[in-house]
Amino acid sequence: MTNRAEIGVIGGSGFYSLLDDAEEISVATPYGPPSDAITVGRIGERSVAFIPRHGRGHVFPPHRIPYRANLWALRSLGVRQVIAPSAVGSLRPEIGPGALVVPDQLVDRTTSRVQTYYDAGGAIHVSFADPYCPSGRAVAVAKARETEWDTVDGGTLVVVEGPRFSTRAESRWFSGAGWSIIGMTAHPEAVLARELALCYTSLSLVTDHDAGVEAGEGVTHEEVLAFFAANVERMRTLVGQVVEDLPLERSCPCGNALDGFKLPFDLP
Ligand code: ADE
Repeated sequence: MTNRAEIGVIGGSGFYSLLDDAEEISVATPYGPPSDAITVGRIGERSVAFIPRHGRGHVFPPHRIPYRANLWALRSLGVRQVIAPSAVGSLRPEIGPGALVVPDQLVDRTTSRVQTYYDAGGAIHVSFADPYCPSGRAVAVAKARETEWDTVDGGTLVVVEGPRFSTRAESRWFSGAGWSIIGMTAHPEAVLARELALCYTSLSLVTDHDAGVEAGEGVTHEEVLAFFAANVERMRTLVGQVVEDLPLERSCPCGNALDGFKLPFDLP
């Protein structure tokens, strides 16, 4: 096994067992170390690199995840397509816990996170009108529907700073704006992927109804973790199927995100 990979998976620690012939490697980046050692292995014919987003033992809360190091490390291994499973809350009564949402839009409500590689040496303004990879989304929706998963094709994921959950008023505000789901990690992950010309596809597992949608006590950490753990096998299977079905040659616009810009450094 060489330490190269075509596809990256950033997700919870339940995904280690996805990979055959797995090997762990430490990758240094100009942005410090990634969340953890990266596991490189195979799923079928595809070479895959896996990073546990929060580190082993869930040591990084969402606002402390080394997002820049994670995406940079993946690209330095050869990765060009990233699959990002995560837990989200639902902002809509009709999207219940257990549903899989493959969002096509994102709203950034984070406040403290560095969200660019290009903060010196010239202005690089990548397009981000469509934050997710259209090819990756299409494969994800098709594969999830084949397994008869309750799948929502599209929708807006609002990313909050956390680590606290939202108040009922915030949650009602977000659902009133028409947004579908809420999470804490998709930003800046998605935009940093775009800034490295990577494809990025979110597989968002709904673990709860957010505070404004339900009449109960509001979301708890235990509820989210328990629900995700109960569904991790299903998510693992889906990630494997999506990886195997991603097109080998990219025909989406993601790889052209940096065309025409004079970059202040070489990409890895
Ligand atoms: N992750 C899972 N459920 C969530 C919620 N309700 N709000 C923010 N992030 C979440």
